[in-house]
Formats: sequence, structure tokens, C-alpha cells
Amino acid sequence: MATVESHYGETSAAARVLAAAAAAGITEITPQSLAPADQFHTGGIVATRELAAFAGIQPGERVLDVGSGLGGPSRILAAEFGADVTGIDLTPAFVEDATALTVRCGLTDRVRFELGSALDMPFADGAFDVVWTQHAVMNIEDRATLYRECARVLRPGGRLVFHDILAGDGRALDFPVPWAVDAGISFIYTEAETKAFLAGAGLELVEWRDETEAAIAVGLPPAPPPGVIPFGLMVVLGPDLPNRIENLARAGRDGRVRVVRALYRKR
Ligand SMILES: C[S@@+](CC[C@H](N)C(=O)[O-])C[C@H]1O[C@@H](n2cnc3c(N)ncnc32)[C@H](O)[C@@H]1O
Repeated sequence: MATVESHYGETSAAARVLAAAAAAGITEITPQSLAPADQFHTGGIVATRELAAFAGIQPGERVLDVGSGLGGPSRILAAEFGADVTGIDLTPAFVEDATALTVRCGLTDRVRFELGSALDMPFADGAFDVVWTQHAVMNIEDRATLYRECARVLRPGGRLVFHDILAGDGRALDFPVPWAVDAGISFIYTEAETKAFLAGAGLELVEWRDETEAAIAVGLPPAPPPGVIPFGLMVVLGPDLPNRIENLARAGRDGRVRVVRALYRKR
């Protein structure tokens, strides 16, 4: 049976990303040049920059990236917005990969990654100005605990910002999708359920933006010729990725999922 950790990988994605970058003729390894392969969410690096602007990330702010993956968003937050970023992720290989890619980008003074569960985070109360989640919560069933933990590690007045996929009309998804091969590790909740979890954690809504239409309008990348793996997320998630993305895109078009950006504040 798939677990979240086995779904995302047990071998070095960093080595594959760096080899694929070299094969694609990329000579300078930067947060921007890695972006096609290390931003695991709809909208890629553009969505990360938009979310950072939406959250009003300021230089020197302490940001916690929950479910940090290969660390692409964390590195953009540090390199382009001047944030001091800590990532936490459940998948051991990703923590190692994110660290290795951050070393290559020369950002270890401002970005670091820790292994751990978002449901029990190894951080002190009030340690962060901003908690950030981007396409990570769809693997997390216990949202009441998740958002309570996010609120706990925020300072009073701190912000929770997210860019996540929510359930739409309640009909089932077609699997596989990018975050799960089957329903066993996929947990998406409606807008009403999500808002109730957040309110229960003592977080106050500042702004809620439904981005589904925009995400659909961006469309899908063209399918590569058979046997060709372009420099992109397929390098990490494998050749089945276009099929998974198409299943997600269809669910977006027919109302089964919503893509949402939201900003909350801790009282
Ligand atoms: C689709 S990836 C997104 C990565 C990153 N946020 C990005 O946008 O590039 C989802 C990540 O969430 C992590 N994750 C899932 N459940 C988690 C949990 N309970 N605690 C911490 N990380 C978790 C996975 O290991 C994976 O790296």
C-alpha cells in the first residue's frame, strides 16, 4: 500500500534533477533555473511568486514552509523576497534532496529543511511570522490538528497563507492524481469544511481567492514525445505525470476540485 513517503520517492531526486538540468544545457544552478523541476504545484514558479506577494512576505520574515518537497518555493522566498525559511517534510528523501539543491544554490544561510510531520512540528510556540503551505495538505487527513499546529508555531499577529486543492461538488476523483495513486493517501475537503478547521484553530480569515478558473486557463504543458523526459516535474514524479495532471485538470473543469489561495491571521 502506498504511503505518503513512498509516493513521493525513496531515491535521490536531487541527483536526477541536476543530471536532467545538465542534459538540458542549464549551466547555472539557481532557484529560478531549477523551477521547472522543483515547484510541485499548479502554476509553478509564477504561482509561488503570486502567493508570496499575496502574503506580503517581507525581508527577514521567518517563514515555515509546511510540506516543503524539493524546496523550490522555499528557495524563491529566500532569494527573491529576502525571507528566512525553514521547511518541514515527512518524506526523508525530499529533506535530503531539498538540502542538497539549496547547497547548490548557495542559500544555506537563509534556508534549511527538517524531517518531521506537520501534525507534530519540532518548533517552539510563536517561532514564525508566516506559515506557508502549497499543495501539501491534500495528503493530510487530520486537518484540525494540522491547522492547530500551524497556529501554535505562529507568533500573535502572524499569517497562515496557503495555495491548496479543495474538494468541489463531492464527486470522486479519477486516480492517479499528482499527490496520490489512489484514495488511500488523498484527503481533500470542501471550502466550508476547510474554513471550519481554520476557525477551530483560532485563525481569522483575511482573504479567500478561488483561483480555479485561472489555474484551468493556464492549461497543461504539451505532452512530450513518447520516451522523452523534458526538464520538468516528470524528472521527479515519473513518466505517468501527464496522465495524473490530466485527471486533476478534468476534475477542475467539471467541478470536483477547486484551487484556492487564502490568507489567515492569528489573533
Ligand atoms: C505536492 S508536494 C508539494 C511540495 C512543495 N510544497 C511545493 O509546492 O513544491 C507535497 C509535499 O507534502 C509532504 N507532506 C505530505 N504530508 C505531510 C505531513 N503530514 N507532514 C509534512 N509533510 C507532508 C510530502 O512529503 C510532499 O513533499
